[in-house]
Amino acid sequence: MKIFLDTADVDLVGKYHETGLIDGVTTNPTLIKKSGRDPEQVYKELTIIGVDDISMEIVTDDYYEFVKEGRRLREKFGDITTIKVPCTPQGLRACKILADEEIRVNVTLIFSAAQAILASKAGAAYVSPFVGRVDDNSFSGLDLIKQISDIYEKQSALYNPVSTQILSASIRDVGSVSASFEYGANVVTMPPSIFEKMYNHVLTDKGLDLFQKDWEAVNVLKI
Ligand code: E4P
Repeated sequence: MKIFLDTADVDLVGKYHETGLIDGVTTNPTLIKKSGRDPEQVYKELTIIGVDDISMEIVTDDYYEFVKEGRRLREKFGDITTIKVPCTPQGLRACKILADEEIRVNVTLIFSAAQAILASKAGAAYVSPFVGRVDDNSFSGLDLIKQISDIYEKQSALYNPVSTQILSASIRDVGSVSASFEYGANVVTMPPSIFEKMYNHVLTDKGLDLFQKDWEAVNVLKI
C-alpha cells in the first residue's frame, strides 16, 4: 500500500515527507505550471528531500523523443526517476523501449481497462487510471480500478505474474483513497490536502478531548 503525493509544491512535499508515510511524488505539466518553477529544479529539490520515486512527465508526440528524454532524465536523476508517458501509440512504443532498459515508466491518462492491458504489455511499472476525471464523465472511476485489478489478478493466477502496479490518480476525496486500495490499487496518488484529511475523524477528536479532560482530572489526584 503506497501513498504518493500528486503535487509539484516542494515545500508541501517536505512537510508531509517528514511523516515517514510518503512513498513517492507524481507531477504533471499542470502541476508544474501551478508551481511556477522549472521542472528539473523541482525534481532536484524533491530528490534532496529524500523522495524515492518521482514521476516526471514528458510532453511530445514522437516515440523517439520520449525515449531520448526518458534516458536523459534517468541518467540525470538516477533510481528515483519514473518516466511518465501518455497512453498513446507513441507513448507505449517508448514505454516498451524504456522498460526493456529497466527504466520505470508510469503510463498516464488511463481511462479504460483496454488501455491498462496495452500499457502492461508495454512493460509499464505503473498505470494511472484517473478516477476523478472518469467520475466527471458519468462512469465510475473506482469501478475502473476494480476492473483493471481483476484482470491483472486473473492473468497472474492463470498465466505469468503481471508486474504492472495500479496507481490510482485524480483523487478528490478521502473515501476514494480507501476504496482504491480496497478495489486493488497498489498506489494512490493524492493532493497533499487529501493526505492531511486522511488523519481526521470526528470521533478521534471527541475521544481525544475526553481523554484529555480525564487525564487532567487524574493529575489533580496525584500527590
Ligand atoms: C496523475 O498522475 C495526475 O497527476 C493527477 O492525478 C491528475 O489529477 P487531476 O484530474 O486532479 O488533474
